[in-house]
Amino acid sequence: MAARLSSRREKFRGLSPAEFFYKNREIAGFSNPVRALYQTIRELVENALDATETHGILPEIKVNIKPLENDHVFVRVEDNGIGIPPTEIPIVFGRVFYGSKYQLRQTRGVFGLGVKMAVLYAQITTGKPLKVVSTQNKSKYEYEFEIQIDIAHNMPIIKNMAVREKTFPHGTIVELITEGNWTLARRKIESYLERTAMIAPYATIVLEELDSKKEYRRVSKVLPPPPETGKYHPKGADLELVKNMIRRSKKSLTLTKFLMENFDGVGKKTAENFLTWAGFDSETKLSKLTLQDIEILVRKMKEYEKWRRPKPITLSPVGESLLKQGVKRILNPSYVTAVTRPPSSFGGNPFIVEVALAYGGDVPQSDTPTLYRFANRIPLLYDEGADVSRKVISSIDWSIYKVKFPAPLAIVTHICSTKIPFKGVGKEAIAEVPEVEKELEIAIREAARRLRRHLSKLEKLYEVKRRKTIIGKYIPEVSRALAYVSNLDEKVLAKKLQTMLEKDIKTRGVINVPAA
Ligand SMILES: Nc1ncnc2c1ncn2[C@@H]1O[C@H](COP(=O)(O)OP(=O)(O)OP(=O)(O)O)[C@@H](O)[C@H]1O
Ligand SMILES: [Mg+2]
Repeated sequence: MAARLSSRREKFRGLSPAEFFYKNREIAGFSNPVRALYQTIRELVENALDATETHGILPEIKVNIKPLENDHVFVRVEDNGIGIPPTEIPIVFGRVFYGSKYQLRQTRGVFGLGVKMAVLYAQITTGKPLKVVSTQNKSKYEYEFEIQIDIAHNMPIIKNMAVREKTFPHGTIVELITEGNWTLARRKIESYLERTAMIAPYATIVLEELDSKKEYRRVSKVLPPPPETGKYHPKGADLELVKNMIRRSKKSLTLTKFLMENFDGVGKKTAENFLTWAGFDSETKLSKLTLQDIEILVRKMKEYEKWRRPKPITLSPVGESLLKQGVKRILNPSYVTAVTRPPSSFGGNPFIVEVALAYGGDVPQSDTPTLYRFANRIPLLYDEGADVSRKVISSIDWSIYKVKFPAPLAIVTHICSTKIPFKGVGKEAIAEVPEVEKELEIAIREAARRLRRHLSKLEKLYEVKRRKTIIGKYIPEVSRALAYVSNLDEKVLAKKLQTMLEKDIKTRGVINVPAA
């Protein structure tokens, strides 16, 4: 018998982005009250850092957390950033997928989503709005708003608004009351801020909790050069992007000019060479292109092998010297080295890998290297097992670098790119892109080779020190025998021999050898 088709009609409707993320909050990291509190603080701190360091301001960030009754938690994050224009405040905090970071440059934020997730979570758990106070350098006033989100329409609801003379030069204060388990989230949040202090040694970060205050004072006043806004690389372009670019361009533009104006590293010669190779007339006007032409153009752009490499002006690596300072600030090792690799790219996206390796001192002993992962200066604390850095570290035979586990070895990996290949919008694990994997391996092995040299040197020094102890033991006997045959004073001889030994040891560099 044939199955009877249901006569019920399907109802169709659209879903606002705010509604989608409200319903699927776990994919943005808001899966339970512990993780949600961690994620809330993370989103606010990352915005605070983007508003400062990306604009050449030395960050001063204050985080204040007070657990309240019924698992409610008060969170306040204050920064000395560039502030937000009052006309933009409601929408940047009240509309999912709205922000200033949809440009091609390295920032911590990318999606235009983070703070809205914090607002949504607070709204559905405690019903309280987000409060924001912000002022810009040039303004005389500070603006205060209380904002919630109209979830169905993905628009801000302004609950309150006030304007007054400003009380601080520039920056933003964000406050909210959300549901969270502070006791359980505390360790992760502290660890997140500690790692932020490691990757940003130029930032002062203060964490005020109910009963305690922790302050990471900046150890450097040097900021890495901020990233510049750049253009797309032709290899990284897709059909939608190119169609959009064409829509926004003058239709009388020739293909050569279009490529030169819109893409990274494309001069007249490069454009002409490519167009000839791809079978296009370089003088063709945009208005003459059919959809099929555009499809072929984009396909050929991806296939062409002679583009210049993507320029890394959009990137802002921390640099070897600052990275070492950051690692020393937090881990206090007896040895540290850092490697910043030259720029590379995957699919037309420029990226730079940096690695630091710390050994000994206060670095805890562990059966595998302790890993500190960062992407665009964001510490990544969850999903380490799924991350490309852990994969690379596990594939290395550390005994060839003279490391015997358990060992006090920590490895810091930092990947910066205009497109970090995150495995999800929660921004926790980096996918195994072969180009990134290769760069990571080169950098880690380079740092490991330096560690091996350091450990070999130490080994030699210990050997000399051991010999000194043994030789020292024979001095009384040798001086007694010498005194007997030479008739010289035994004590004087012993003293001279001891001085000779000390001098010899000193010339071999055995001063302040750390304990084995
Ligand atoms: N403290 C702040 N100071 C200045 N601007 C801010 C601040 N917080 C948020 N903004 C502005 O609000 C926008 C939206 O922030 P939001 O966290 O939602 O997205 P994002 O940071 O752009 O990307 P992501 O979703 O990855 O966090 C930012 O792009 C920025 O322009
Ligand atoms: Mg953000």
